[in-house]
Amino acid sequence: MPSQNIQWFPGHMARTRRRIQESLSLVDAVVEIVDARIPVSSRNPELDGLTGRKPRLIILNKADLADEQTTRRWIAAYRRQGVAALAVDCKGGRGLEGFLPALRALLHDSVAKWEERGMNRAIRAMVVGIPNVGKSSFINRLTKGGKAKVEDRPGVTRSKQWVPVDRTLELLDTPGILWPKFDDVEVGKRLAFTGAIKDDVMDIEELACYLMEYLGKHYAEILTERYKIEVEEGDTGYDLLTKAGRKRGFLMRGAEVDTERMARILLDEFRGGKLGRFTLETVEKVRE
Ligand code: G4P
Repeated sequence: MPSQNIQWFPGHMARTRRRIQESLSLVDAVVEIVDARIPVSSRNPELDGLTGRKPRLIILNKADLADEQTTRRWIAAYRRQGVAALAVDCKGGRGLEGFLPALRALLHDSVAKWEERGMNRAIRAMVVGIPNVGKSSFINRLTKGGKAKVEDRPGVTRSKQWVPVDRTLELLDTPGILWPKFDDVEVGKRLAFTGAIKDDVMDIEELACYLMEYLGKHYAEILTERYKIEVEEGDTGYDLLTKAGRKRGFLMRGAEVDTERMARILLDEFRGGKLGRFTLETVEKVRE
């Protein structure tokens, strides 16, 4: 399991930190994209310190894969903390119509000031998030696929990607790779279950066993329905993986179950929403 701290890329993080800091003065707001299934683990905790008091809008993306009721609770919890949040599904395109109004509401005072002064100026927002959380999908959705780069601005390096959405909004594409932080093994597991960490850095079977164990404990009926297996007391994740593999007929020589094949299928089906909609982190995990 990935238990090491993400400091294994110290150069990357330092560069990203510098780029975010440089870009902050160029934007009116920070749009932070997180995975609605793991709103805590899919955030880089350094971001709070990095963006300081810049107005922030949290986008809970992949809401189509998350438990609807829990997503609503997350949004309410953020609101109670005075943080603006919006749930969207960039795959199906749902919820995105609420983005611009939410951003305008967040920047209400600034927008009113610009209008008062007769300034016809677009809102500029920086889009940040850990890899695979859906940043490109989000930007592509807003620009309807026509992701055009506007001219470089004076004093801004060429690597900065300004993306015009319409007359009223310009987005700055993530100025670097913001890795998640998984010095906590449980955070690492959740990032891996949802596909935020690439499978080639970990043992697929071990990961699938953890997931089976979790599902067996909390959602036994779903395993029964999907894989036609009985979840019995004392079953380990490996036991459940073997049962499911046997039921699917994934047998190798000597009638041994091909648990690796079943592991891949379980992870694919879980990530693709075929087992249902799950949120692995509940509101109690929000740091007050
Ligand atoms: P990134 O720029 O932050 O790295 O993420 P990106 O947009 O590339 O999205 C990563 C994966 O997540 C893509 O899947 C994308 O389709 C999927 N995705 C993004 N937003 C949503 C969403 O709201 N719901 C669901 N269900 N999926 C979403 P992929 O398998 O890597 O690519 P593809 O096969 O879909 O093209």
